[in-house]
This record gives sequence, C-alpha cells and structure tokens, in this order.
Amino acid sequence: MGYLDMFCHPVWAISTALLTVFVRIQRNYARWNPRTCEVRLTGKTAIVTGANTGIGKFIALDFARRGARVILACRSEVRGTEALNEIREKTGNSDVHLRLVDLSSLDSVRAFAKRILEEENALHILVNNAGVSGLPRQITKDGLEASFATNHLGPFLLTNLLLDLIKRSAPARIVTVSSVNHKRGKVDFSHFRGENLTYFMDEVYNHTKLHNIICTNELAHRLQDTGVTANSVHPGVVMTEVMRHYPLWVRCIFNLVGFFFFKSSEGGAVSPIYCAIAEELEGITGRYFDSDCSLVLPAPLARDAALAVKDFEVCERLTSKL
Ligand SMILES: NC(=O)c1ccc[n+]([C@@H]2O[C@H](COP(=O)([O-])OP(=O)(O)OC[C@H]3O[C@@H](n4cnc5c(N)ncnc54)[C@H](OP(=O)(O)O)[C@@H]3O)[C@@H](O)[C@H]2O)c1
Ligand SMILES: *[C@@H]1O[C@H](CO)[C@@H](O)[C@H](O)[C@H]1NC(C)=O
Ligand SMILES: *[C@@H]1O[C@H](CO)[C@@H](O)[C@H](O)[C@H]1NC(C)=O
Repeated sequence: MGYLDMFCHPVWAISTALLTVFVRIQRNYARWNPRTCEVRLTGKTAIVTGANTGIGKFIALDFARRGARVILACRSEVRGTEALNEIREKTGNSDVHLRLVDLSSLDSVRAFAKRILEEENALHILVNNAGVSGLPRQITKDGLEASFATNHLGPFLLTNLLLDLIKRSAPARIVTVSSVNHKRGKVDFSHFRGENLTYFMDEVYNHTKLHNIICTNELAHRLQDTGVTANSVHPGVVMTEVMRHYPLWVRCIFNLVGFFFFKSSEGGAVSPIYCAIAEELEGITGRYFDSDCSLVLPAPLARDAALAVKDFEVCERLTSKL
C-alpha cells in the first residue's frame, strides 16, 4: 500500500469529516451563553459604534432584544438604516435609533457627542466596537494617522465627551473591543501622527489595539468609585468584513480557514456582550477578557500603569481643541 493511499482509506475520510464538523461546531464556544442570560435592559440606554455590520450589529441586536434603547453609531446612513430596520424588525423594539459618526474625524465625533448630550438623559452602556484593519497610509484633516484616529483616538474622544453623562447614569459600563493582536503592538507616540510606521499586514492595527487596552485601563483607574467600569475584550477571530482592506489572496485564505475555525459574527459578539451585561462583572473594572469570556492578562505593555498615565495624557492632548 502506497503512503498516500492511507489518505483515501474510508476510515481516514470519515474521521476527517467528523473532525471538520466538530471543529466547525466548536468554533463559537464560550464559557458564557447570552441565550441563557436573563438580564433585561429595559430603561437602559446603550450606544454601539460600528453597529451596521459584523460584531457590532449582533451586539446591538442583543441589547435591543433585552429591551434597551439602542443607538447605532455608524458612519454610513445607507448601511446604518439597513441595520436599523433589520434590528427593529427582528426584535420588535422600536426604540432603536441611528446616529451618524465618522470616528476618524474629531469634528464628527464632537458633533455626534453634542447631539447625544442634547437628546439623551442617560447612557448606561457604551461599546466602542468600530474599527478598521489594513488601511493604507493616510493622514486625517486633524493631522492624525487614519487607523489610529479610527480605532483609538476617535473612540477615546467619544468616551471622554460622554463621560459625565455615563457617570450620571451609574452603574454604567464602557466596553472597548480590542484584540489579541495587541500583544504584538508597540507604543511609540509618534505613531499617532503617522511617523515611524511600517504598513506591513496588520502591524498598524496591532499598535492601535494595544492603545485601546492601555487607555481603557487608565480610564478605569480614573473612574474608581464612580460606579462606571471600563474593560477591554477580545472577540475572537471572527468572519466579518474586517479584512476588506487586504489583498484578495489574503481574504481568500482568511475565509477558507475561517469557515472551519473562526467565529461567526454572532459568536464574536458574545464576549463584548458579556462584558456589557453579565451580572457577575458588576464592579469589575480595568480588566481584559478573552473571546471565551474568561478574565486573562493582557500583554505586559498593557499592564504598565506609568505608561498608561502617559498614553492617556498624550491622547487627551491630541484630541483636545487648544
Ligand atoms: N473580526 C475579527 O477577527 C476581529 C478580531 C479581533 C478584534 N476585532 C475588532 O472587532 C471590532 C469590530 O470589527 P468587525 O470584525 O465586526 O469588523 P467589520 O465587519 O469590518 O465592522 C467594522 C465596523 O466599524 C465601522 N467603522 C469603520 N470605520 C469607521 C469610522 N471611521 N467611523 C465609524 N465607524 C467605522 C464599520 O462601518 P462601515 O460598514 O461603514 O465601514 C463597521 O460597522 C473592531 O474593533 C475590530 O478591531 C475583530
Ligand atoms: C520617530 O521619528 C522621529 C522623526 O519623525 C524621530 O525623531 C524619532 O526618533 C523616531 N522615534 C523612534 C522611536 O524611532
Ligand atoms: C499582529 O498580531 C498578530 C496576532 O498576535 C500576529 O500574528 C501578527 O504577526 C502581528 N503583525 C505584525 C506585522 O507584527
């Protein structure tokens, strides 16, 4: 029997098929299940950024099902309206609304926050979910590098502008969707303005996701005893549109491997939802959660308290109008 014949043997074929099915079923595994969580959000207001597709849409859908007033913070009126109609239809909750914001623009973030502060009298949950990966080099009109502006500085400013409202609504939670990719990120404050960056694959993305955790931790520190918690979370490797800026061949491999191993968008929403609503996380703050909803340690740079103070101050300076 030739060596390769082994792969044609029925036992091999059947066990491979079984393993494939098993792996695909297991890919959305998490130690917490939103379907068995009975928390209701009636009377609560939540904002989810990037809620028109991918992970964000399923986070918003879950909140709407629980009876929350949900604000979808999206940059496209067309895509946002589609998601809005879908969520209203699926949940029967008509208290779901679309508000436009381009997180890469500080002016847009300010205008969005201004409107929220005028219209809302409470904000109990803020999920900073929107993000991009693989953007080519671009400097925004604020003089910021586009990926850093979208993934970190825009959400940073948004959170700070809404902070008084969130504090008044305590108990309240801020959840930042980061990524396990932060482990390969580096901190260099000149990156914010597009200096000393190389655009190799997801390198810039990795840096931005590290800043997410660092500043969320410092925010948690500043929010001590306010009843507002701030945590970061990895959603898992998820089949969404996140690869849209990568070359076709990269997307093909991602989708092929992803079909078996990566989470669905619904599965990717589980750990962010957990951080936003789970009763057992009451009072837990400044932590990082893995995609299976377990509490884990982030990379050493994300645990450096002195670096966090400095990073937060740099970001405050970059986002404040002088
Ligand atoms: N997918 C993964 O494997 C994975 C892994 C780890 C972490 N994450 C994180 O999970 C979060 C959600 O990503 P996803 O996978 O769901 O990706 P996605 O399908 O590409 O969705 C990203 C969302 O962010 C929005 N967005 C992008 N740029 C924006 C801007 N400038 N202003 C406002 N909204 C903007 C998008 O809006 P448009 O549709 O209008 O572009 C979209 O709604 C991101 O923070 C990502 O870094 C994802
Ligand atoms: C980043 O670039 C600036 C010039 O743009 C340079 O002065 C600085 O030393 C660089 N920093 C690092 C860490 O390479
Ligand atoms: C970004 O992080 C991911 C996950 O840790 C890693 O596989 C990848 O190599 C990193 N990218 C770069 C360019 O360092």
